[in-house]
Amino acid sequence: MAERYAPAIAEPTFDPIGKSAKHDSAALHVSGEAVYVDDVPMPKGGLETYCLLSPKPHAKIVSIDLEDVLNSPGVHAAICWKDIPGRNDVGPIFPNEPILANGVVEYIGQPVVAIAADNVKRARAAAKKAKIVYEDLPAVLTIDDAMAQKAYVAPPNKMERGDVAAALANAPHRLKGEFANGAQDHFYLEGHIALAHPLEDGQMRVLSSSQHPSEVQKMVAGCLNLSANQVTVEMRRMGGGFGGKETQPAIFACIASLLARRTGHAVKYRVDRDDDFMISGKRHDFRVRYEVGFDDDGNLLALDIEYAARAGHVADLSTSIVDRALFHTTNTYFIPAVRATGYPCKTHTQSNTAFRGFGGPQGILAAEHIVDRVARHRGLDPLTVRRRNFYGPAPRVQTHFGQTVEDFVADKIVADLAKDVDYDKRRKEIDAFNAANPILKKGMALCAVQFGISFTAIQFNQAGALVHVYNDGSISLNHGGTEMGQGLHVKIAQIVAHEFGVALERVRITATDTGKVPNTSATAASAGSDLNGQAARRAAAEIKQRLAQFVAGLHGVSETDVAFANGEVRAAGKTMKFEEVVWRAYNARVSLSATGFYATPKIHWDRAKAWGRPFFYFAYGAAYCEATIDTLTGEYKIDRAEILHDTGRSLNPAVDLGQVEGGFIQGMGWVTSEEIWFDKTGRLRTHAPSTYKIPIARDMPTQFRARLWAPAENVEETVHKSKAVGEPPLTLAAAPFLALQDACAAAVPGRYPLLVAPATPERVLNAIDKARAGA
Ligand code: MTE
Ligand code: HPA
Ligand code: MOS
Repeated sequence: MAERYAPAIAEPTFDPIGKSAKHDSAALHVSGEAVYVDDVPMPKGGLETYCLLSPKPHAKIVSIDLEDVLNSPGVHAAICWKDIPGRNDVGPIFPNEPILANGVVEYIGQPVVAIAADNVKRARAAAKKAKIVYEDLPAVLTIDDAMAQKAYVAPPNKMERGDVAAALANAPHRLKGEFANGAQDHFYLEGHIALAHPLEDGQMRVLSSSQHPSEVQKMVAGCLNLSANQVTVEMRRMGGGFGGKETQPAIFACIASLLARRTGHAVKYRVDRDDDFMISGKRHDFRVRYEVGFDDDGNLLALDIEYAARAGHVADLSTSIVDRALFHTTNTYFIPAVRATGYPCKTHTQSNTAFRGFGGPQGILAAEHIVDRVARHRGLDPLTVRRRNFYGPAPRVQTHFGQTVEDFVADKIVADLAKDVDYDKRRKEIDAFNAANPILKKGMALCAVQFGISFTAIQFNQAGALVHVYNDGSISLNHGGTEMGQGLHVKIAQIVAHEFGVALERVRITATDTGKVPNTSATAASAGSDLNGQAARRAAAEIKQRLAQFVAGLHGVSETDVAFANGEVRAAGKTMKFEEVVWRAYNARVSLSATGFYATPKIHWDRAKAWGRPFFYFAYGAAYCEATIDTLTGEYKIDRAEILHDTGRSLNPAVDLGQVEGGFIQGMGWVTSEEIWFDKTGRLRTHAPSTYKIPIARDMPTQFRARLWAPAENVEETVHKSKAVGEPPLTLAAAPFLALQDACAAAVPGRYPLLVAPATPERVLNAIDKARAGA
């Protein structure tokens, strides 16, 4: 047989680990050629979907009459819960989370009837003809109401270490307070979408914009009464997920699949922005109540803190999200006695869900607010108080959930950043500015983050990969992670290319597919590259070992004398091109395909006892911010943001820096301009960019600089000593928030104008006015 090699690569990138290789889809993204679900051509006869949404926050469905809908032009099917052949349930942890309202509606925006028509306009027109009779039921619309009624979606949870009551009683100073942080819409550029394609023998193939194709597979199978092997879910890329596509894509995929089953046609369900807002859940807003005990120097002695989160109408991931708020309630600080309680409140609103940080940002923001308040109470600089309370050295190393902090570097990062920005000098300059300016006030803050890496549900910390080497020497890579813009695929391709000693360009990344790698976890908890990177590395290592054995046999040397580098294989003083070795191995009948599997070591967590080592390691970072407020209008500008972030030995510094910058700005949006607002009837009134303000170009800090911390290295055996990066930088949003708080404090000396998040201009103005009125 003639040799058959893949075309030569013009500009090969060898040894790509730690290099800023560009995102594998960068060119496709900017040219508009990257294919998202909506870009896939509709199969012949394909239909589109519109759902009729509940107009009531809580009501019984007395009757549904869809006759006129079905007689509408272009309509092929209209279904309600009664038409679901299998399970009407997409609950990821707890059961009974309906796809279509199950005899009762539980929020304004809940899908009740799903209609498939020739096109979405006709489906929408037909929806107006549905006759549905509701009978109102009492609705719980706020966290306060849910707490008063003890309405929870799951039992409250607690983490506790030390005698909190005694430590509070003995503390020289105590402060009680209430704090709040707001919800946040994911505002992915690509809204929820699924395309279901019925296949022979009742099987279904689904393209789903999902961070969790295996879960979509399970839920689609469940609602159609199929087994998992009859459903395949594929995901090439999302136009952003940010946690919003960890569980909730199942609703859209199930609706499309149910209609596809019903009609025998391919069915697409693509929601517009308003419907995406109305149907899907957001970041949990929290009400926080606390009592903190401390000494004259601001040393924290005790913290008793209660988190009440708006879970919405069903549990979804709320219990795990509240847990993560509790885990992060001390952030970088050692507090001897801690009691943290979390309530996942049931409200008749959208089911809130994962959002970048997953409860961690809510816990960290509360922690930073409390430390800020303690510092001001003692007349100390907040950064001084922060540094005094950091973890370490022993015995100040144990968290309130039993984990020993073994890799603490926040102190070093903060020292580097404070020196870099000349913190003390800036403090004096800003104080001087404030003394000279009665109307404009400036503020500053420097905060750090310590973010636990691992799914706290231990079973999700596993991953699989599938690597094929074709006999022309080209490599195909598949793994359980999904690409949502974060650059996961290029990082894993770098790992595989490194393993084989070939150019990065030789590795082709293929769509995530439940038919290739099964039983995957969500790409979430920032663990995508940690988990899938190790699995892919093992798959590649296995094939490489077979090749090494083959080459060793050719030359009569040992396997360990075979080296793979620069696209070549060397042994016994001879060099062969990688593709030549592959071709020869193929002809010698060596298997060129392998799977890899990885399960994170060292982690364990007893949720009932709230004790263990839930995190493989921690990611750290710090941010410094300055802000100017106008005390007459509340308007403000974030003048400066400087970030120093620890990504371990970065796999790809350009991608990681993009994550740090993007995460930080997304967090800044959460604590400043993004306000989710419901009216008194429980209707979400902020459901489009006209009323919901995400940061845009002019909101960027005037001076904005992010850097990766240089001496970084992971003490744990992660893939090439890297660290996860997706979520931790979002929590650095505490810095712009507290810079605004500092500016407000400068406006009303001697008082504490309490800011809660989001610190919109109205809130800034109100905080100042209220503090002045009290003065
Ligand atoms: N970056 C982009 N561009 N788009 C996204 O949707 N999601 C974030 C983060 N960064 C996201 C992103 C969230 S919520 C998580 S958990 C991680 O990416 C997931 O990817 P990783 O595990 O590969 O870091
Ligand atoms: N983080 C993010 N997503 C998750 C987690 C977590 O800890 N657990 C389940 N889904
Ligand atoms: Mo990210 S919130 O863990 O999807």
